[in-house]
Formats: sequence, C-alpha cells, structure tokens
Amino acid sequence: MRLTRLTDWLEAQRDIDCVGQPLNGVVQRLLPAGPVKNALTGTWLGHPLHPVLVMVPIGSWTSASLIDVAVGRSTTAARRLIGLGVVAAVPSALSGLADWSDTGGSEQRVGVAHATLNTVALALYSASWWSRRRAEAAGGAGTAGAVLALAGMAVATGAGYLGGHLIYAQGVGVDTNAFHSGPDDWTTVAAIDDLPDEGALAVTAGNARLLLVGQGAQIWALENRCSHRGAPLSDGTVEDGCVTCPWHGSRFDLRTGEVVAGPATVGQPVYETKVVAGQIQVRRQEERSLRTNPDGPG
Ligand code: FES
Repeated sequence: MRLTRLTDWLEAQRDIDCVGQPLNGVVQRLLPAGPVKNALTGTWLGHPLHPVLVMVPIGSWTSASLIDVAVGRSTTAARRLIGLGVVAAVPSALSGLADWSDTGGSEQRVGVAHATLNTVALALYSASWWSRRRAEAAGGAGTAGAVLALAGMAVATGAGYLGGHLIYAQGVGVDTNAFHSGPDDWTTVAAIDDLPDEGALAVTAGNARLLLVGQGAQIWALENRCSHRGAPLSDGTVEDGCVTCPWHGSRFDLRTGEVVAGPATVGQPVYETKVVAGQIQVRRQEERSLRTNPDGPG
C-alpha cells in the first residue's frame, strides 16, 4: 500500500478536528503573536526552526540504538544520549507547536497525528532512560531499555514521515513565493490614478500577484502572497512603512520586503517601480532579501 493513501486518508479525517481545533485554540492563546512565538518559529533565523531542532533528538536517539547494537548491552553513554534526546525534544516540540498553531484543515489534522506519534515516542524513550538507569544500578544488561528505544525509533520514524508530508506535500513552513517570479522586464500593471493616496492596490503582472502601495511620490511593489501561508497582503494593513498580514500578523518592510515581525521567516519579493505616461510599471528586483530586518523599518 502506498503511504500516500494513508496520508490522504488522514487528511480527510474531520473527526480529528474535535481534538485539533480546541487544542489549536489553546496553543494560540499560550503562544500569541510576539517575540516568544517568533523565536520558536525561526523568524530570527530566516528559516523555520523546528526542522533544525529535531535533529538533536533524532541524532541522539539513533546513536544510542547504534551503540546498543554495537556493544550488545545498554551502556551509560547510550543512556545519556537517550536523556539528551528527551531533553532536546522539549524545545523541538514547542517550535513545532508554534508552527502548528498557524495551520488549519488537513494540515492541522496531519499535525495532530505527527504530534501524537512524537509524544508516544518521547514516552517510550523516557521509559527507556528510566529502565536503563535501573538496570545500571542493578548491574543488568538493560535489554528492556534497548527494546523500548527501538520501539521509540519505530514510532518516531512514523512521526518523521508525517512531518515530511506536512512540509513537502502540504507546504507548511515552505516559502509560498519560492516558485513565483514576476516580470523581469518593465510591465504596466495599473494607471497611477487607480492607486489610492496612502493606500494599497492589488494588481497582476503576468502570473504574479502584486501589492502596490503609494506613499507620497514613492510607489512600493511587493508580491501580494504572504511568504508564510499565502494570505493576500492586500487584505492587511499598511502602516509605518510596513504591511501587516491579515492572517497571522507578520509584518514586511515595504521598501525591502524584509520580515520585520514574524511568524514569517522569509521576506517578500519586491519589485522596482516607475511611472511612464501615467502608467505604473514594475519589474522584479535582481536581489531578493530572504533575511529578517533586525533594525525594523527605517
Ligand atoms: S499567512 Fe501567516 S503571517 Fe501571512
């Protein structure tokens, strides 16, 4: 059976919403938009933090089982690696929850299954650590601890598969503008009279959807699709040289597209603008800033 059938089935299980939606509300209340959530999502890093953090428990736990197999019994080194993984799983889980709090529908359901399996794996590894410790004190081989670790690895592998599905198939954490590219050549998108004073206008340029913002004599142009989860920035608010996303509150510098506030981790593509015979023209900037602006808007 292809595993994608399993994930298709999981995505369609609306019964999970009975648990997922209230839980999502709790996580949103515990991790509201702000510095803590931004730190956990990876806004400061310019990259989602969760995939980085999970490497520590996965590496520690895998190494422990390899030592078990190589030595033929539980060792202090393996127990310490199991313990390191258990401790490191806590910030990994928190960063995952921060990402998950901004999901809905099928992504949220797969996220519930991913988190459930990870919780089971964490419990098995915690039991493994405890069992090994008791075995060490009693001079035993720690076979039960090694078996519990292998069971944890099997469950964590399933959780990892769903985590990969969330990213690669459902696009959670992916820059939604990764494959979008506006025109390289000057392209007319609107008449200058259509652009409201101090206001925003959504336009299209080829396949790209852009946000135009007029401020005095200056016209800024950004990709309209929020890099975080794809909200139309034209439905957001423009203030202090930034546009704020209507869905989860990420703020982007209008001049550079840089992330001023998360949870987005990647900036918006920006476009050069000029006015010719009363028509606004745009073209893609050569360089795209992917980094967070540490100083905020200037
Ligand atoms: S879609 Fe989440 S901040 Fe824009």
